[in-house]
Amino acid sequence: MSDPKASSVLLAEDDASLRTVLTLELKRLGLDVTAVPGGREALAALESRSFDIVITDLKMPHVDGFQVLDEARKRSPETQVLVVTGHGSVDSAVRAMKSGAFDYIQKPVDPDALALVVDKALERQRLLREVEHLRAQVRGRFDPGDMVLVSTAMRRILELVKKVAATDASVLVQGESGTGKELVARAVHAASARRNHPFVAVNCGALPEGLLESELFGHARGSFTGATANKRGLFEEARDGTLFLDEIGEMTPALQVKLLRALQSGEVRRVGENRTVKVNARIVAATNKDLKKGMADGSFREDLFYRLNVFPITIPPLRERPEDILPLAERFLRVGKGKHGGTALRFSQDAADALTRYAWPGNVRELEHAVERAVILAGTEVSEEDLPPEVRPREDAGSKRSLGELEKDHVLKTLTACGGNQQEAAKRLGIARNTLWRKLKEYGIPAKK
Ligand SMILES: Nc1ncnc2c1ncn2[C@@H]1O[C@H](COP(=O)(O)OP(=O)(O)OP(=O)(O)O)[C@@H](O)[C@H]1O
Ligand SMILES: [Mg+2]
Repeated sequence: MSDPKASSVLLAEDDASLRTVLTLELKRLGLDVTAVPGGREALAALESRSFDIVITDLKMPHVDGFQVLDEARKRSPETQVLVVTGHGSVDSAVRAMKSGAFDYIQKPVDPDALALVVDKALERQRLLREVEHLRAQVRGRFDPGDMVLVSTAMRRILELVKKVAATDASVLVQGESGTGKELVARAVHAASARRNHPFVAVNCGALPEGLLESELFGHARGSFTGATANKRGLFEEARDGTLFLDEIGEMTPALQVKLLRALQSGEVRRVGENRTVKVNARIVAATNKDLKKGMADGSFREDLFYRLNVFPITIPPLRERPEDILPLAERFLRVGKGKHGGTALRFSQDAADALTRYAWPGNVRELEHAVERAVILAGTEVSEEDLPPEVRPREDAGSKRSLGELEKDHVLKTLTACGGNQQEAAKRLGIARNTLWRKLKEYGIPAKK
């Protein structure tokens, strides 16, 4: 049995006695060696799995070392290739290094020189992996201090994030579009012990089923048209980190089955391959759909729902937490100035009122865009006129607000005052709940029964 943690090396050498000697040397160095007698066999081996190091003789019949080198480089940039050259054929060694070989070994092979160059190759590979890892870390960097958490509802969510971050439980983040689901997913990752590992996000609604499957699980070369190389899936990319499955409600039932299987077994199988790979990513899923409805109509699997919903976090729409509106707007004002320049320092009273009164059907994202746009238009103060028309209280020809506008204002203010509770708001307004729902629908606010 080979040590599963040992670095793997593929050795292609047509000279049987040299192959035997090199194999013994490499094993002595603690490597897991696969030795083959020629280029053709080397290509077949590369096809079946990946290696940390490839050592290939350059001169071999049929398929030579240059082809092996090309193939190894094409398959995985992490694999380090060492070429073995005959005495005096420095030209071909140079050519090999120009084609991406890490170094060359001259015949007759000196064991100490071999040990040294293998060591260097492994060290380089370790560094490459570390750089990749650090890059991923920078990409996924997140400071919970960047979040605006003023309302009680959002402060409660921060508490939930901290609690769940201490565990490995799956998290399901629910909320209307633009409420901050991805931000919360990143916060879970950033607050967890996995923070120094990758955060990998995939939008399950953006890709057709087959493509999404190969994105998630990876694929073997040739498993479908266009699969020109072996590819690791995102489950593998997110190794020891967090895999964010956005818009999980869009996933097809067939793929839901495969996802569930992966979650249950902790293993994935690349498309077109038989062997499985162990995975260890924390899953955070998000949706703006009502998955309970999906389960009722059969479009979302119940077993998968319960698997993902171990720890639910539901972000309320912005109109139900109006205390967050101005602090968010202030934040976006500062960020927007950094991004686009501009002179705006604050919001006028009218602008602040308009922002607070508006129902924000597109939630925080809509607010962010509205403020960014205003920053570009505004002078030192963001006025009502700098806000998008739908946010501004409209005025009719006689410069008087229409009855409908006044009514809308009143209804929304009441709703806000009731913390978004529509039943309560209907009671205070003295109208039937159905009437309120109809009105809210006109204003673009979904009824909550
Ligand atoms: N509490 C918050 N504090 C600061 N910024 C926020 C907050 N919530 C949301 N945002 C910002 O609002 C924008 C939308 O958030 P995010 O992308 O996380 O929402 P989402 O629910 O995933 O949206 P969608 O459903 O459209 O994918 C982002 O730019 C995010 O940084
Ligand atoms: Mg999102």
